[in-house]
Amino acid sequence: MKRLLSGIKPTGELTLGNYIGAISQFVKMQSNYETFVFVADLHALTIYNDPHLLKERIRNIIAMYLACGLDPKYTTLFIQSENVYHNNLAWVLECNSYMGELSRMTQFKDKSKDKNETAISCGLFTYPALMAADILIYDADVVPVGIDQKQHVELARNLATRFNNKYGDTFKIPEPIIPQEGAKIYDLMNPNKKMSKSDETGKGCIMLLEDPKSAKKKIMSAVTDSDLKVYYDKENKPGVSNLLVIYSSLKGISIEEATEKFKDSNYGEFKKCVAFVVEEFLENLQKKYREVLDSGMVDKILDESNEKVRKLAEEKVRQVYEKIGVGR
Ligand code: TYM
Repeated sequence: MKRLLSGIKPTGELTLGNYIGAISQFVKMQSNYETFVFVADLHALTIYNDPHLLKERIRNIIAMYLACGLDPKYTTLFIQSENVYHNNLAWVLECNSYMGELSRMTQFKDKSKDKNETAISCGLFTYPALMAADILIYDADVVPVGIDQKQHVELARNLATRFNNKYGDTFKIPEPIIPQEGAKIYDLMNPNKKMSKSDETGKGCIMLLEDPKSAKKKIMSAVTDSDLKVYYDKENKPGVSNLLVIYSSLKGISIEEATEKFKDSNYGEFKKCVAFVVEEFLENLQKKYREVLDSGMVDKILDESNEKVRKLAEEKVRQVYEKIGVGR
């Protein structure tokens, strides 16, 4: 069985973008792969996080994975920092990455562009090598991610190929899997910008744990256009297209089906339907989420998977150390 691996970093609250672009994809694919999904807590350290809040968020993401439908029968859930071998491999990969290629990572360029050099952590620069380690350490075949992470998976492919050429066959070359629709959910206030955990106003972003009524209001005030007809056109109607993607993803139907449904609706009617679906989705999800947290299953599941992931990672690091010649 092929292996699937992906993760989310615990900076800020999870968004509807994380759900549609990532978590719902893992859920759909989990039974067809040997699936590994983790909380990338070490990745959160590229910026300052309140330590107590960080700890809480890490646990909550595991609970959210379960509430969204990740099933321990198919999916091994774990926390990155609880498996120290990720760091071991990350260092080796850093030593096989070039300043040039890491400087070309668009996420690094975006996140550092308005900052003084003294305010940019080295971790922000090297984090794609840690992400490559997360992937390569488990010989993942496929890595489902939203479009913003595709370049990092491609870097992992390049680093794996480079290492294999230098030291002999060691790593599987992973394949990024990008959803056809929903690979980038846009900000509701600015539909040319990604919906993001770090949205300062909060108005353009729907959090998975926010009050469903407030989410409903956000959809009702989402930016659209003056054309007044509902159809999918990403270039000219980014706001309406974004709402169509959100609606069709949550309903599990195609964009064409959603477009057909709203072809005679005005914007008010259309938004009301999207708002209703989002509200209902959040209500159900949050109910399940509370049940998961109350059940105490989070720790049990993590304890069980820890041994499995450690063993796999330890063996890969042992192979790598052997190939590169460190240790006795
Ligand atoms: P992160 O935490 O920024 O995002 C987690 C996942 O959610 C997707 N995503 C979106 N998809 C659609 N629309 C959006 N608005 C949206 N916002 C976020 C992201 O593309 C991603 O798939 N470095 C990674 C975490 C990571 C990882 C890994 C992923 C660490 N190691 C190994 C895969 C494999 C990150 O910061 O994702």
